[in-house]
Amino acid sequence: MERNFPYDTEDLWNKDREHVIHPWQALKDQHEEGSLILAESDNIYIYDSDGEKFIDGPGGMWCVNIGYGRDEMADAIADQIRRMPYYSPFGALGTPPAAELGAKIAELAPGDLDKVFFTTGGSTAVDSAIRFVQFYFNMAGKPDKKHIISREDAYHGSTYLSASLCGKPADKSRFDFITDTIHHLPSPNPYRRADGQSIEDFCDEKVADLENKILEIGPDKVGCFIAEPILASGGVVVPPPGYHARTLEVCRKYGVIYISDEVVTGFGRLGHFFASEDVFDLVPDIITCAKGLTSGYLPLGATIISRRLYDDVAGENSKGEYFANGFTYSGHPVSCAAALKNIEIIEREELCAHVRDVGPYMQQRLEELYELPLVGNVRGSHLMGCIECVADKATKAKFDEGVDVGKRVDRHCQARGLILRPLGGLCVFSPPLTINREQIDRMVDIMAESVEATMVDLRSEGLWNG
Ligand SMILES: Cc1ncc(COP(=O)(O)O)c(C=O)c1O
Repeated sequence: MERNFPYDTEDLWNKDREHVIHPWQALKDQHEEGSLILAESDNIYIYDSDGEKFIDGPGGMWCVNIGYGRDEMADAIADQIRRMPYYSPFGALGTPPAAELGAKIAELAPGDLDKVFFTTGGSTAVDSAIRFVQFYFNMAGKPDKKHIISREDAYHGSTYLSASLCGKPADKSRFDFITDTIHHLPSPNPYRRADGQSIEDFCDEKVADLENKILEIGPDKVGCFIAEPILASGGVVVPPPGYHARTLEVCRKYGVIYISDEVVTGFGRLGHFFASEDVFDLVPDIITCAKGLTSGYLPLGATIISRRLYDDVAGENSKGEYFANGFTYSGHPVSCAAALKNIEIIEREELCAHVRDVGPYMQQRLEELYELPLVGNVRGSHLMGCIECVADKATKAKFDEGVDVGKRVDRHCQARGLILRPLGGLCVFSPPLTINREQIDRMVDIMAESVEATMVDLRSEGLWNG
């Protein structure tokens, strides 16, 4: 397709800089560095307002699973807008797309998770899961069961409640959080385990962390454990083998509800619609999802609750109460229509099977980057990946924050036509699921060249002598 770029980049850049506050905006740089204005897109590629083309390493923000430029998504969205752009979802009001999507998600979700509460995104899906747990134990006459266990390196969202569940140290400054009922276990990051510790012993330790925390707080006070199957924004942390099923066993033993936060891992990223059971042998009580649910074409999230838990508070058991939680745009019909078309595309094009094919290839190619002296660790699974740059490979020592090594690698990648997501010393990526082997080769080659270029810079600036 012939593209034109009728954009006045400088004008956009100035307007953006003057008037838009971005999520995770580095306030210091706001008046020095303009934003990259991304204007056009196609499959795994995005173009800036001057027409510069990039491979989209992060898949938008872990979400553009089916890739960009899908006409049938535009048609499905336009069609729904013409039929009914919006109606209230409150009480007993519904729309055809929300009803169809609820049934479809119930069909795809594991175990008896077949009750779907629609939200506006991932944070509100997490909030709604926690609010359901609170409601559930209040209804059960166990109002003390309110404590929540999360983990360091976790990311669960940016509302007051979901942000309080997060465990990324960099996000914790100058904000207030709920601290009396929310607890964080040490990160299950195998790369940072003690020297000489086996992976099996590390797993035992992380499972024991959970059990010990429940016993310390008191099982009659712990409501739920919330965990991403792979900690995404915390740096693509893949817990040790066996960890997921064993932490579920611990939760079962003490009557603690298990919430699996699949906002990133859901809808194909790990080669299945949901990773909990198919990848990690875990059927949780609640799953939260968003992002890949619509491939980012429109905002939508969902909290999927087990029939068993739902039945405990519904029907005769409801005692006439309402689940007084929700949003004007819960189950927005246009977003639901987009999600239905998105799921149809994932199924028709067999994108989950494609990810099971090319995902291991991407991981295998990434392993090559470990040869580079700056790279302390490469990790991931299927189409989630991370390279961790360290100052000292032997001791795993990190660079000082000011060095911003991830940003340096990303800048070199951008100059070569690839965008990554830098997070301190980490670069994470999760390309659209449509990526093929040749495109993976190009992506990894650019990363290798960019890490090498970063090594040259760091040496010449006297910041590193590796
Ligand atoms: C695991 C996880 N949970 C929740 C969220 C929050 O989702 P949202 O930004 O749609 O509110 C994110 C966002 O990155 C996430 O990665």
